[in-house]
Amino acid sequence: MELREVLKARRSIRQYTGEAIPEDTIRDILSYAPWVPNHHVSEPWRFVVAQGPSLEELADLRHQAVLRRRAGEDSAQARADKARQEFLDASAVIAVIQRLDENSSRRQEDYASVAMATYNIILAAWDAGIGAFWNTGPLMQDADVRAWLDLREDEQPAAFLRLGYPKAVPVQRRTPIDERVQWRR
Ligand SMILES: Cc1cc2nc3c(=O)[nH]c(=O)nc-3n(C[C@H](O)[C@H](O)[C@H](O)COP(=O)(O)O)c2cc1C
Repeated sequence: MELREVLKARRSIRQYTGEAIPEDTIRDILSYAPWVPNHHVSEPWRFVVAQGPSLEELADLRHQAVLRRRAGEDSAQARADKARQEFLDASAVIAVIQRLDENSSRRQEDYASVAMATYNIILAAWDAGIGAFWNTGPLMQDADVRAWLDLREDEQPAAFLRLGYPKAVPVQRRTPIDERVQWRR
């Protein structure tokens, strides 16, 4: 698919067919991640790919994290069940992890690059016919998830990317860009 076409056609995908994604395909998609603008070429990322039983473990951790976050709320159980099922419906989840520089300016610049690296993964996936969904939420700060990912003190998740072959592609709208651009000539 043409790059310009991908940039507008890509959507966040919530519904997947359940078909497994070959590991070689995931490896290929990940290979695009480092090729983003990156000040000092710090490469402040690493990735954990969860599939099969590991994805079930991560889904259970998400369930528990939502239950803890929503403790006391009537909807806690339903939200936790939904959060778990969302992960189980995906064929893989990639945890994108940022190494946190001691310097706050570098940390901010690094996050920009990590976000772009994540987007490269999403675009490469789309080009391969695979949809992605960028999740944040309660998993981001959860101690059990940190332990499961073997995160060091100086590491932080930036994204949990659900991946799968799309069952449905939602329609989205955006404000026409002319409404957000001021030309100065
Ligand atoms: C940093 C970041 C975090 C996000 N976290 C969530 C999330 O936790 N839950 C969610 O429903 N969507 C999340 N999204 C996805 C957005 O909701 C989605 O991109 C938006 O609805 C636009 O849809 P589109 O990607 O199809 O254009 C996140 C996106 C980004 C970039």
